[in-house]
Amino acid sequence: MDKIRIEGGSPLIGRIPVSGAKNAALSLMIASLLTDEPFHLENVPELTDIAILSQVLEALGVSVERSERRLALHAGEIRSATAPYPLVSKMRAAFWVIAPLLARRGEARVSLPGGDPIGLRPVNLYLQGLEKMGAEMTLEGGYIVGKARKGLRGAKLNMPLVSVGATQTLLMAAALASGETVIANAAMEPEIVCLAETLIQMGAKIKGVGTRRLVVEGRAEGLRGATCHVPPDRIEAGTYAAAAAMTGGSLLLEKAPVRQMEKPLACLKAMGAALEETEKGLRVSRDARAPLRPCQITTSPYPGFPTDLQAQFMALMTIANGASTMTETVFENRFLHVAELARFGASIAISEHSAHIRGVSGLTGAEVMATDLRASASLILAALAAKGSSVINRIYHLDRGFEKIEEKLSGCGARIWRER
Ligand code: EPZ
Repeated sequence: MDKIRIEGGSPLIGRIPVSGAKNAALSLMIASLLTDEPFHLENVPELTDIAILSQVLEALGVSVERSERRLALHAGEIRSATAPYPLVSKMRAAFWVIAPLLARRGEARVSLPGGDPIGLRPVNLYLQGLEKMGAEMTLEGGYIVGKARKGLRGAKLNMPLVSVGATQTLLMAAALASGETVIANAAMEPEIVCLAETLIQMGAKIKGVGTRRLVVEGRAEGLRGATCHVPPDRIEAGTYAAAAAMTGGSLLLEKAPVRQMEKPLACLKAMGAALEETEKGLRVSRDARAPLRPCQITTSPYPGFPTDLQAQFMALMTIANGASTMTETVFENRFLHVAELARFGASIAISEHSAHIRGVSGLTGAEVMATDLRASASLILAALAAKGSSVINRIYHLDRGFEKIEEKLSGCGARIWRER
């Protein structure tokens, strides 16, 4: 298994191009299943999650061709309605194919999903929504089996809690359903706006894009193909912004989606980082002589502070001058990095959904283990700021969501190597 070695303690200085957003790319790839016409994606990051989802789509009969940063997808005919366990168990988003399968084939057999071990992550909201749209859903041998022989029909869907994946899935189902669907208490993450805009390009009529209430006039007769550009990754940009602040460096984050990063940037500013928006992107810097200030953060659905930056900002808090609190409200088990951060000398206590972080004057290098995607990034940040040598094991998690991370960081002065 690959590991990453880091000799920490030097500031990151330079520029980092922000890659296309993993989570936006994944839902757009699944949207390609909604049409029998060609579907093109540009600015697609090279990540294992993208490769796994490509395999899932191929298993369903989609032709997938990658050339550099472009993906050409064509679901002319969906040959199979089964998304198999060995692939879907590797990532949560693969489960979302259930909507296009039901809408186009009237049947779906999709393995219960896997993904990061950050909580129970049930699929009840997906099932309830699809049932209201006329599908019969059952569980058979670890697979969710859906049938909608007469097609899906519009429905009023009141989401009991905000879910990114359930909103995306039901939005896709609604786009090919007959009649009107209302999704109340919808998620409004930028990735949902991106999907909705693409569905509109494909011929769907959607009102309320970017709000908690989506109204979709379905086009049961079919949707057109589309060409879309994957927007820059707000989580990757936020991670490198935290890295600049943590190492007392200065990074120009090219094409950082500043408008989508309001909450994390406000926290960085409150902690003492300087932010400058330029034509090329966002510059984040901190004078290493000025200590970081503590901060109180609570994660919540967009436009709140993203749970996907919780671990990275907790790493930052470990060296702030005072006591910080990080409260996680989205997932019930997303503190696995706490025990690993402690190996660097961080002082963190957990009570229920909050981590209480007492800032220390510095971290020291350690051997640690990555537990999930964003937790891996927090360990990289801690290792970059720590004095001495660190080894991060199980970094396959990192390859799921951070494109060319060693290259990007070493280009800015980090001493980082991958060992195979
Ligand atoms: C998406 O996951 C992202 N994944 C996650 O990013 C992200 O952390 C999360 O949204 C929240 O922003 C992708 O986009 C591929 P949810 P998702 O449904 O859709 C509960 C990363 O690191 N829930 O919004 O799975 C659920 O358990 C990943 O890139 C139900 O109870 O998240 C959680 O507590 C990790 N029943 C809460 O809702 C359901 O049927 C929010 O989860 C569905 C969800």
